[in-house]
Amino acid sequence: MTNWTDICNVNDILPNSGRAALHEGEQVAIFRITRSGNDAFFAVANYDPCSGANVMSRGIVGNLGDKTVVASPVYKQHFCLDSGQCLEEDASLKTWPVRVDGDRVMLAS
Ligand code: FES
Repeated sequence: MTNWTDICNVNDILPNSGRAALHEGEQVAIFRITRSGNDAFFAVANYDPCSGANVMSRGIVGNLGDKTVVASPVYKQHFCLDSGQCLEEDASLKTWPVRVDGDRVMLAS
């Protein structure tokens, strides 16, 4: 059975931006992607393997082809928010399932 942890209110994350949260001892970057008034949430590691810094939550989000991506604020590599895969190099970010329950954002263990 999946364990869900209550992280924050939906409105704690501005549309099309990210926030960092501490989840079971790991820094997680949670993104709220708003398109045509609909929200989608993604959670990836806050640690950028390219720069070695905990910065992914401050990355700029956008689309590349059919992928929703975040660009590292340091060296600008793009990571797919769904898979965590880096589009330019052989690297990836850990991902977590996210769900919204009412106005609460929940992360899976
Ligand atoms: S980890 Fe170096 S470019 Fe993605």
